[in-house]
Amino acid sequence: MRIIKHPILGDVKEKKKVNINVDNRQVEALEGEPIAAALMAAGIRAFRRTIKTGEPRGVYCGIGQCNDCIMEVNGVPNVRTCVTLVEEGMIIRTQIGLGKSGDLDD
Ligand code: FES
Repeated sequence: MRIIKHPILGDVKEKKKVNINVDNRQVEALEGEPIAAALMAAGIRAFRRTIKTGEPRGVYCGIGQCNDCIMEVNGVPNVRTCVTLVEEGMIIRTQIGLGKSGDLDD
């Protein structure tokens, strides 16, 4: 779901659509929007899983302060998706624990 009419901010202007790959799924996004916004618009809520229990985490603060929205973006772990803007062709993966380059035991 996207908010396209806002009582204070007004209507969202038409933006170019781009494609990103999220866990091997093609997702349509709007150029320049935060990755987290694109994922939420596509119905994706779990962005990472905790290292100890595997519990899902997603957007919490939405302003780059809590790290709950971190994912692997183009092979780089720990990217805060709420403050990172979408670019055409990005490859985004659900992060498990510390991510690939930070794996502790596998
Ligand atoms: S939701 Fe808190 S850092 Fe992104």
